[in-house]
Amino acid sequence: MSDHMRITLRFWRQKGPDDKGHFETHRVDDVSPHQSFLEMLDQLNDALLKEGKEPLAFDSDCREGICGTCGFVINGQAHGPLRGVTVCQLHMRNFRDGDVITVEPWRARPFPVVKDLIVDKRAFDQILMAGGYISVKTGSAPDANAIPISRKDAEEAFDAAACIGCGACVAACKNASAMLFVSAKVAHLAYLPQGRPERKRRALRMMIAHEMLGFGNCTNESECEAACPKEISVKNISLLNREFTRAALTQTA
Ligand code: FES
Repeated sequence: MSDHMRITLRFWRQKGPDDKGHFETHRVDDVSPHQSFLEMLDQLNDALLKEGKEPLAFDSDCREGICGTCGFVINGQAHGPLRGVTVCQLHMRNFRDGDVITVEPWRARPFPVVKDLIVDKRAFDQILMAGGYISVKTGSAPDANAIPISRKDAEEAFDAAACIGCGACVAACKNASAMLFVSAKVAHLAYLPQGRPERKRRALRMMIAHEMLGFGNCTNESECEAACPKEISVKNISLLNREFTRAALTQTA
């Protein structure tokens, strides 16, 4: 007996940022449970092309959960039903034969739709350009063991640095807040000695950029943490708030 499935896809079509957009439906036959979700979409696109229709536009690059390029909403959940998984790592075995699956883009004002499931995430680049870097001289690469960093700080920095900037936190937040993203970028540098000289300026500038780009405020819903494929903790947002308060009291941007 074949273990292949029939899936009905309800997917978002939108020509560009000013188009109203609409859902379209198409059945995909012969879906293997071992296929990734994106491979299933590739299969959908082959079928659409054969019918003389436009393929569904979606973004991907590494397809290994590393780059943060992929990402859309599956059945109302950013990156789909599994926790800690990007959409490129999601497999069709997590769905059942006959399922109707709805896919739509991140919906947030700072991420305008480019086409179908693709959104423009350059607002994240602008936040990073505002302060998510180190510009002080840190000397040539020293022996890693010559810089004393506590194990706890090293682990916190590593955990925060796992953020791949996919945008799921913004899509999952009812306020379209990017505080989890900003906090991960601020935290991974704040825990390390190389990041400390610019910590106040960094927190201030990134938070100002966050507000100016139209992202909303955090109201502690924690939906961002639940949707994050890298399981970035909201405790980084507490750290960001402390960094920002300290900076706002003593530093000008
Ligand atoms: S395509 Fe790179 S994380 Fe999904």
